[in-house]
Amino acid sequence: APIQAPDLSKCHLPDDVPPTVHVECCPPVAPKIIDYTPPAHIPSKLRVRLPAHTLDKEYIDKYNIAMERMRALPDDDPRSFTQQAMVHCAYCNGAYDQIGFPDINIQVHNCWLFLPFHRWQLYFYERILGSLINDPTFALPFWNWDHPEGMRMPDIFADPTSSLYDENRNPNHQPPVVVDLDYTKGADDPTIDDKQQIIHNLSIMYRQVVTPKTAELFFGLPYRAGDQPNPGMGALERMPHNNLHIWGGNPNNPNNEDLGHFYSSGRDPLFYSLHANVDRIWNIWKTLPGDKRTDFSDSDWLETSFVFYDEKKQLVRVKVKDAVDTRLLGYTYEKRPLPWLNCKP
Ligand code: C2O
Repeated sequence: APIQAPDLSKCHLPDDVPPTVHVECCPPVAPKIIDYTPPAHIPSKLRVRLPAHTLDKEYIDKYNIAMERMRALPDDDPRSFTQQAMVHCAYCNGAYDQIGFPDINIQVHNCWLFLPFHRWQLYFYERILGSLINDPTFALPFWNWDHPEGMRMPDIFADPTSSLYDENRNPNHQPPVVVDLDYTKGADDPTIDDKQQIIHNLSIMYRQVVTPKTAELFFGLPYRAGDQPNPGMGALERMPHNNLHIWGGNPNNPNNEDLGHFYSSGRDPLFYSLHANVDRIWNIWKTLPGDKRTDFSDSDWLETSFVFYDEKKQLVRVKVKDAVDTRLLGYTYEKRPLPWLNCKP
């Protein structure tokens, strides 16, 4: 059977945080839950997610204002940035138990839920930002870390006067430092020059995205009702996703916060753009030339549900099956070159 959306009234302190961390990440409880209904067809106008390093001034300004407003909402408003960050903590650090299995946590990482869970999280985040600036066309920019021009922290996040800034990041990884897609903590190598790093990154992209041809290899292993968490992650989650988190966090903090730990990741606005590219690569994977690559068709995957608050502060129950086509969610990604396609290591 599929994992069911958690009962928010049973949310508790996270079981899975370092002992020195005290964090409460339960959302407010809602009087009722609305079931998400997908549109009958693809909307004629889609929100287009653009690469963060190519935005014009107008777009940057509007993104900034939206973030400012999200940060300014009271902490108990489910649309606030504080609550948005807690969404990740609650689903990823053991604050929810599985329905019917009170001794088993829900964990959306290290399993086949990794991609669809984050897709839905970003969907609501984007809608909330858009509504805060009365712009339903607002699309979340993505960090184009798979392209040489995007292989550094996008400048819009590195400006300390911007609402997109977060001080809990590795001070040595500010732009224009080139990202290392297989970074492990402390593994900065000054002998590698930018060009070598970029070539290395492209071959990692090939290995993690082109090589895995089955859903299990790409998404991660099945995780059904009653299963213990963490059956095993897929190629994209393992690398470069995890490495980008480690690369972004501040190693001087006890748990590499913010990006370097689940409970704090969502406190960095960069998190959402990092994940928008993960999300984009899921779309790309399904259209790669050669062997046909497809989503799971297993109903336990398709029927898995989550709950999120929407831009109207309503609690919405969503299913994985309604997220497999981003156009039905109203958005798409700007087409960009994929220089890693031919970088067989
Ligand atoms: Cu939920 Cu990038 O992690």
